This record gives sequence, structure tokens and C-alpha cells, in this order.
Amino acid sequence: MPETRIISVDEEDMKTAVEEAVALLAQGEVVALPTETVYGLAADAFNADAVAKVFAAKERPAFDPLIVHISSFKELAEVAEVPEDISALVKSLAGAFWPGPLTIILPKTANVPDLVTSGLPTVAVRQSGNIIFRNVGKALGRPIAAPSANRFGRISPTSASAVMKELDGRIPLIIDGGACREGIESTIVTLEARGEQRPVIHILRAGPVTKEELQKFGKVVIEKKVSDRPDAPGQLASHYAPRTPLLMFDKPEDFRPEPGKKYGLLSYRGDPKAGYIDLHEWEIVEELSPGSGKLMEAALRLFHVMRVLDEEGLDAIVAEPVSETGLGVAIMDRLRRAAAPR
Ligand code: TXA
Ligand code: MG
Repeated sequence: MPETRIISVDEEDMKTAVEEAVALLAQGEVVALPTETVYGLAADAFNADAVAKVFAAKERPAFDPLIVHISSFKELAEVAEVPEDISALVKSLAGAFWPGPLTIILPKTANVPDLVTSGLPTVAVRQSGNIIFRNVGKALGRPIAAPSANRFGRISPTSASAVMKELDGRIPLIIDGGACREGIESTIVTLEARGEQRPVIHILRAGPVTKEELQKFGKVVIEKKVSDRPDAPGQLASHYAPRTPLLMFDKPEDFRPEPGKKYGLLSYRGDPKAGYIDLHEWEIVEELSPGSGKLMEAALRLFHVMRVLDEEGLDAIVAEPVSETGLGVAIMDRLRRAAAPR
């Protein structure tokens, strides 16, 4: 692959960008596209050779399945066979959250190549809210398989320049649609019918659609289990990781800096009351939420700030915890995985 091109678009003038992306996808190539969560590395979901290029560019192990993006609710039937007992729930969730950052695991149809689902009988499906992504999907006329556009195990990209750092020279094209609105990956759920009782919504990956929002539709269980086993894909303990070790502590006082080493602080709001700012002479302090956006702003900035700190040549990054309510659940999930031993 000689060179990775970037085409910048704004929402009024996206025709050329969409056409170029569609032309490559239709030829079985891969293209990085913006979504509202993070940038995705897209391929025609029904073309196994194209999907193989996604795994190759990311150096992603074949046991980790991809999310399939549909561009209309009608397209769902092409990729998933929705069981009768959860079909009303799927409709309600789609009505409430699609297009948007909710991914639903459903039994797959025969159209979906095994490579996409890593041999699982189920497929992960969502409809992206990003207008560029949706227009590409509509013009292609096929569902799009797209994992986050980073190398495996690394920080998800929330801008075209971050994609460039991850995949330069490995893919032909990046469509630059600006910064992602959400900043963390979609919430992933599986659904369980319970006869007369309320259905159960199992959250496999916390994300922008929160437990609180899902509770209107059923009993919500956050699955805590993480595993490195190939039969439990997507739940890898170590993930979203900067190259620099990331440390988290139960209490600020547990941090014991080693002499001569350089530490940076990933602070929630730069507030000394959190107990971290005054612990140490930090090389650098980066705040997740310097404005008043709180958890929303923190989610939006999380991967960007991790990248900034990762480029500082530190010996370690110390991350302050955030409160585990609403979006805080997803933020803490990403921080814990980034801190997990590799
Ligand atoms: O926001 C997002 O979801 C982004 C954008 C690009 O859509 N995509 C994304 O994809 O985060 P990726 O591949 O980085 O994460 C998808 C996760 C993986 O952890 C994968 O193991 C899990 O979804 N997954 C996919 N299919 C699954 C299935 N059938 N059962 C359980 N987990 C599945
Ligand atoms: Mg990913």
C-alpha cells in the first residue's frame, strides 16, 4: 500500500467523499470512516475478502468479531434473524436509539460471512448516526462491517489524524468528518426474553447509551466478566491501551512514585479535592473535563487525552477515577482495560 489519502468533508459538501469511499468499498477495499462514536475501518460486510483486509490492517486476531452497520431498519433482516420473543424489544430499542451508539447482538443470517462474526452464530448490529457514514452505507447498498480504526488493542481514534497515526500506509483512504461527537465506542447489549416478566438487557460493553436509559426497556445487568478466552470475544481485559503503562489506584495514597521516573496525571476535572493533583510533581496534567461538560465532556475527550499523554515519553500515566454513574460506567470501563496487565 503506497500511501494513505485523506479527504476532508463538511456536511454540506460530501458528495465526492462519499463517492470515492463507495467506489473503494465496492471493489472490496477498506476505508476509514467517521461515526458518532469513534472512527471505523469499513468494509463490505458481505465480502469476506474485504473483511479479511480489515483484520490484516488492524493486526486483529480472527477470534474478535466485527460490528455490522446497517443504514436502515429494513436492512436488519439481511443480517439478523430476530427471534419472535424479543422482536418487540428490538423494535423499541431501535426506535429509541437508532441511528445511534447502541449495538445489539442477534442471531446472524447466512449472508454474514463467518469471518465477520469469528464463527459465532450471532452478529453485532448497529445503525450509525453519522451522516457521512450513513450516506456511504446507503450508496453502497450493503451493510458495512467496521471495527474501530486502530491497531488491535490500542486506543480508538476519535479524529482522522488519530486514524492516520494508527493505520498510515495500511489503508488507501480516510474520510475526515471532524471530531467524533461521542468519543467512546457504542454500548453493546444482548437481549433475553423472560416470558411474562420484563426482558433482561445484558450490557456487554458500557458506552454512550447508559444503564439508566436502558432501564425503561427491561431489567438491565452490567456484565462484569472479562476474559482473554477466544470464546468470549470482545471482553478482553487489556484493551484501549496506550503504549505507556497506565496506573489506577483504589486510594490516591496508594501511588508510590519511583525516584527518577516521569509521571503524568490524567485528571478528571483538575480538582485538588480529588486527592491526586498535589500528590506528586507531575510532568504533565491533562484534564478530561476542563469545561463544565462533566462526564459527557470527559467521554468525548478520553481517547484524545490518552493519546496526548502517550506521546509525552512518560514512564507511567496515573488516572484518577470518575464516579460510576451514567457515562462514568463506560469511562471507568475503558480506564480499567487500559490499566489491565498486558
Ligand atoms: O462504536 C462502535 O461500536 C465502533 C464504531 C466504529 O461503530 N466500533 C467498535 O468496534 O467499537 P470494535 O470492533 O472495536 O468493537 C466491537 C466489539 C468487539 O469487542 C467484539 O468482540 C464485540 O464487539 N462483538 C462483535 N460481535 C460480537 C458478538 N457476536 N458477540 C459478542 N461480542 C461481539
Ligand atoms: Mg475497538
